[in-house]
Amino acid sequence: MSSVDIREFGIHDGISEVIVTTMSKDGVPNAAPMGLHQKDGRLYLRLFNSKTLDNILEKPLATANIVDDPVLFVRSALSDIGHEGIEFVEGFPVLKGALAWIRFECKVRKGEDISVVELSPVSGAVNSRTVKPINRGFNAVIEASVDATRYVIFREKKYLERIGYYDKLVRKCGGAQEKEAMQLLYELIGE
Ligand SMILES: Cc1cc2nc3c(=O)[nH]c(=O)nc-3n(C[C@H](O)[C@H](O)[C@H](O)COP(=O)(O)O)c2cc1C
Repeated sequence: MSSVDIREFGIHDGISEVIVTTMSKDGVPNAAPMGLHQKDGRLYLRLFNSKTLDNILEKPLATANIVDDPVLFVRSALSDIGHEGIEFVEGFPVLKGALAWIRFECKVRKGEDISVVELSPVSGAVNSRTVKPINRGFNAVIEASVDATRYVIFREKKYLERIGYYDKLVRKCGGAQEKEAMQLLYELIGE
């Protein structure tokens, strides 16, 4: 049994949106938003083919970074976070802006389109216990980022329309960070 109590990190049943950092066998870090699933006492990721999956197949470790910065979500979803945003803890990448992080050992069940990665916690840290009320603008940035990751692949108008809907919510309910994140999102999808 690991000494990490997942409940201390606020992880609960359902899907928690985190930024997963991984590392290639050559030591190159990567960061991407992913859903951390908890169901029936199991913790797992469901991954489409991606750099994150390639890295986990090469080196079966992953860090779930709990983040409340909307710009970090957008940047890591659609481009690279860059070395300045990442630090190494026990030789493995963690986001500098993380409120908390949990490191997992990974076991992959490889599928053609989707692979399931079973996670066992091995270490973690809580850096900040920020109190943060729900902001619809923040939530809208997260939804828009999901659609943006699909738009850059499929280039279908329906994703752009949904992003436009979330953009209106961000303008109405978001703060400066959410507005900056949305502007970056449009730049990175080339619209
Ligand atoms: C909030 C959010 C959650 C996401 N969850 C997942 C997920 O659970 N599985 C997945 O394969 N992709 C997910 N994505 C899409 C990936 O983050 C996206 O494809 C990313 O570009 C993959 O980057 P990588 O190739 O560097 O790993 C999510 C995106 C966002 C914005």
